[in-house]
Amino acid sequence: MVELKKPTTTRNRGFYVRMRFLHGKHGRQQERPFFWRYFKWVLWFSLSFYFFASFLITHKPTASLSKTTVSRTKSILASRALFESINTTPLQQSITQKRSPFNGLKVYIYDLPSKYNSDWLSNERCNNHLFASEVAIHRALLNSDVRTLDPKEADFFFIPVYVSCNFSTVNGFPAIGHARSLLASAVELIASELPFWNRSLGSDHIFVASHDYGACFHAMEDVAMADGIPELLKNSIILQTFGVKYQHPCQDVENVVIPPYISPESVRSTLEKSPINGRRDIFVFFRGKMEVHPKNVSGRFYSKRVRTMILQKYGGDRRFYLKRHRFAGYQSEIVRSVFCLCPLGWAPWSPRLVESVVLGCVPVIIADGIRLPFSAAVRWSEISLTVAEKDVANLGTILDHVAATNLTTIQRNLWDQNVREALLFNDQMVEGDATWQVLDALAEKVNRSQRKSRVFSES
Ligand SMILES: *[C@@H]1O[C@H](CO)[C@@H](O)[C@H](O)[C@H]1NC(C)=O
Ligand SMILES: *[C@@H]1O[C@H](CO)[C@@H](O)[C@H](O)[C@H]1NC(C)=O
Ligand SMILES: *[C@@H]1O[C@H](CO)[C@@H](O)[C@H](O)[C@H]1NC(C)=O
Ligand SMILES: *[C@@H]1O[C@H](CO)[C@@H](O)[C@H](O)[C@H]1NC(C)=O
Ligand SMILES: *[C@@H]1O[C@H](CO)[C@@H](O)[C@H](O)[C@H]1NC(C)=O
Repeated sequence: MVELKKPTTTRNRGFYVRMRFLHGKHGRQQERPFFWRYFKWVLWFSLSFYFFASFLITHKPTASLSKTTVSRTKSILASRALFESINTTPLQQSITQKRSPFNGLKVYIYDLPSKYNSDWLSNERCNNHLFASEVAIHRALLNSDVRTLDPKEADFFFIPVYVSCNFSTVNGFPAIGHARSLLASAVELIASELPFWNRSLGSDHIFVASHDYGACFHAMEDVAMADGIPELLKNSIILQTFGVKYQHPCQDVENVVIPPYISPESVRSTLEKSPINGRRDIFVFFRGKMEVHPKNVSGRFYSKRVRTMILQKYGGDRRFYLKRHRFAGYQSEIVRSVFCLCPLGWAPWSPRLVESVVLGCVPVIIADGIRLPFSAAVRWSEISLTVAEKDVANLGTILDHVAATNLTTIQRNLWDQNVREALLFNDQMVEGDATWQVLDALAEKVNRSQRKSRVFSES
């Protein structure tokens, strides 16, 4: 912003000076009769006045500041403040004014060697695939006001390790076999260099685990459950996409359920082409893996065979737009749909939950016992439908009934800008967005912080 401002001023001044120079030169070179000279002066004066006036109008504050003896830094700050006050929306302004939200929460971010995080960004996909919240949260925190550079005043400590970007050369999916050793080595490093891990044994330390079964780091539930959460992380706070309402070894740790990552840019560009309240000509939409004959993988079937049942029952039903193959432009299909099916895969959660909500398609959640992200901010029961796995054969009847009764109510709730914003991670945190919700949840856990308990015990 400052950079932008300075050249503009200089360029205008340069132009003004050049005009004068041209005129002066012109006048000296050619002798003219008196009336012509007189006319020239009038013209020169008018032109000068015109440029001076327009310069004042467009650059008033900077121009007047530059004439005073205010130091250069001060004038840059002032013009920057002015620039920001002109160019920010009321929403952004209220964030700027709200000096310390989250009860003054402070987060220290460990500065780890690049092999733990930024090296992985050499692959563009690391930034924007469905597990990329580990990157997005780190980025947003680095830019945020809650960040402190002084670990002594921190309530929480964020450990930025990207474990989801080791994409397999075989199938393109992230290989997470290295996750445990990479995290262990990061913890060893921070524990040896600074006193804060040892002080709390990690209880005020935060990790992101954005894959299928959270901090169990395996895509298959039976293996994930057998492996469990690494001892090292059991004391800490895990930000995880996995969440169920029942006991599960992969969430047996202090945690916050977060939404999977969907690029806000992709959503905005889809909505520019088709507005949220535009025409929705697809009644029920699903695109994704739907096995015709699911394999018995050590006693478990993909999607507990729910997706197969949907295909068998509704594959021939015209109101159901069911596709089994990948299609890069699927967001344009979601924005055309009334209901979007969100059945479980291996894990109960799926990126469809977020994509449906942010593109205004009513999510139909078919994943028994799922625990949804940010339930304090997003009233899921008002913006979605939940169908039990055992009732999936009645989907048609259930959705017809909703379409005939409360569909408009649900859509009105769903199309609320605040709901959509809460599920998206922005590079620069915005009030109410997903990173904001994470910090809000962390502020509730501040009694785990060593700093706070020290303050209490001293008083
Ligand atoms: C990435 O994953 C592969 C396959 O699981 C593994 O062999 C390799 O060591 C991993 N790379 C790193 C840097 O951990
Ligand atoms: C933290 O504890 C570990 C293991 O007991 C030890 O090796 C390390 O030196 C300690 N770190 C600090 C900063 O004292
Ligand atoms: C699936 O395989 C397991 C053994 O891995 C077996 O015990 C179970 O009966 C099989 N289930 C079905 C429905 O075939
Ligand atoms: C809409 O109606 C269905 C039953 O048909 C009910 O389960 C759901 O909670 C209702 N949703 C709202 C927001 O009223
Ligand atoms: C912190 O407070 C919450 C309730 O607000 C409570 O459930 C939790 O046990 C407390 N934790 C600690 C470490 O005191």
